[in-house]
Amino acid sequence: MSRTSRTALLAALGLIAASGATATVFGSTAGAATPGCKVDYSVTNQWSTGFGANVVVTNTGDPTSSWTLEWSYAGNQQVTQGWNATITQSGSAVTAKSLSYNGALATGGSTSFGFNGSYSGTNAVPATFKLNGVTCNTATQPTDPPTTPPTTPPTTPPTTPGSKADNPYAGAKVYVNPDWRAKAEAEPGGSRISNQPTGVWLDRIAAINGTPGARGLRAHLDEALVQKGSGELVVQLVIYNLPGRDCAALASNGELGPTEIDKYKTQYIDPIAAILADPKYAGLRIVTTVEIDSLPNLVTNVSGRDTATANCDVMKANGNYIKGVGYALNKLGAIPNVYNYVDAGHHGWLGWDSNFGPSAELFKTAATAEGSTVANVHGFIVNTANYSALKEDNFKVTDSVNGTSVRTSKWIDWNQYTDELSYAQAMRDKLVSLGFDSKLGMLIDTSRNGWGGTARPTGPGALTSVDTYVNGGRYDRRIHLGNWCNQAGAGLGERPQAAPAAGIDAYVWMKPPGESDGASKEIPNDEGKGFDRMCDPTYTGNARNGNSMSGALPDSPIAGQWFSAQFQELMKNAHPAL
Ligand code: GLC
Repeated sequence: MSRTSRTALLAALGLIAASGATATVFGSTAGAATPGCKVDYSVTNQWSTGFGANVVVTNTGDPTSSWTLEWSYAGNQQVTQGWNATITQSGSAVTAKSLSYNGALATGGSTSFGFNGSYSGTNAVPATFKLNGVTCNTATQPTDPPTTPPTTPPTTPPTTPGSKADNPYAGAKVYVNPDWRAKAEAEPGGSRISNQPTGVWLDRIAAINGTPGARGLRAHLDEALVQKGSGELVVQLVIYNLPGRDCAALASNGELGPTEIDKYKTQYIDPIAAILADPKYAGLRIVTTVEIDSLPNLVTNVSGRDTATANCDVMKANGNYIKGVGYALNKLGAIPNVYNYVDAGHHGWLGWDSNFGPSAELFKTAATAEGSTVANVHGFIVNTANYSALKEDNFKVTDSVNGTSVRTSKWIDWNQYTDELSYAQAMRDKLVSLGFDSKLGMLIDTSRNGWGGTARPTGPGALTSVDTYVNGGRYDRRIHLGNWCNQAGAGLGERPQAAPAAGIDAYVWMKPPGESDGASKEIPNDEGKGFDRMCDPTYTGNARNGNSMSGALPDSPIAGQWFSAQFQELMKNAHPAL
């Protein structure tokens, strides 16, 4: 990867010193906003015919409501695709215009945008940039934020270097992924939520350097530094690339085969750890959610269960899920500002006694594998990319109808939990009892568990039977609790927030709303993703969903790709409503 900094280039050419002659002209206006700007143009990724670039624009002049940045290439570079700006090119001249959400720049304010381009020969950084007609990067312009102190002090003291915050979300902003924001913003009504923080999924090795339409890890962290300003900021990453990934399903199978544990370590975890350990990023609070939907499969979907799959038996036998998670926790946990949260499924998966305890034990086994210790685990995340309701208010697991426990109802089916909040709190207690830190914090993914809209029950169901009572009252409108793919009728859940309940560090949107869970029919792709009929609305089910209809929306693209119809439905059925 080659990284070229505009500032470094200017210094190399001696341009900064050469323009010093004009310094006195502007010096007399010190204290007032001078027209000006600073541009940091970085090539973040480069291969023989193409490149990716990130541009940070800092306005050192008067506040703007929109901006236009212009530059010219000396070579034959051609911008092919951009994000967070409208970019046009005529000959060698490029014009980037701000979008509705990033046009306003206060004095000292920054924003960034990125693009991919093609080139041949050399890929030199442009020599001159103009922001709203004014030449940038001249030495006379203030490069620092305004000297006026902020009017309000930061709400929480900064974390002492080397010590972790008990709850990293407390008193911190959370990173808004500009790539997701642009997609949300492009949807009618999407600007109502486009500034919400969502998870950055490192779902394959190529995601580390960036893929078309999704910037790489360094570009995210650079943008995170911009968003951070002088306060605290959490960046949410999803570590998701285990060998033999998603062994009980097909939609999110990954690029690594069941035996490729060494590749996982050296080409995936090590490069991520190297970037996160860069001192430049030491001031960020980096939350890593570690390997979604992996470990519990070794309990629930292996021989001896009627839900067993051959692939999960393979992953149990070769130990590569446990080794991979242990390795990731150990490597990432060694970085002082990284907070590991291990995936702990959801109540509709692990809420039964036969799954709950054994899964918790397995989390301990993984957390202490490959040289790791439980100290590398800051907490756990539940409900990632799932649809289980946060809180069912209309019935409790201890309720009975005519002397019969609701646990006998078809929906609850002997589960010990009815919602994610009670499950997360109980799982936390169980994990602490097994030796995890007593200050363990839980995250709950509330991106798609709102279940609002017109179908939301307003009170308990009829007391005719346990089934009428539970079915009439439940918010979760799925056909079966085991359904997981692009669920019809779902809505956005609680907005991301810190410390919402006892033992819970935050409600988060780890699964970015609008990204598909899987394709409704077979679609060839180069990401290793298979076709799982749980994403096909005509499928009549399997043992894992009680042989029920899948409840999936039709016409969905492969996992991770943008699914506009789902995004629209999630907004329509949001609870709390938008
Ligand atoms: C799924 C996909 C993955 C994507 C993620 C977030 O798990 O397999 O590629 O990044 O969802 O949408």
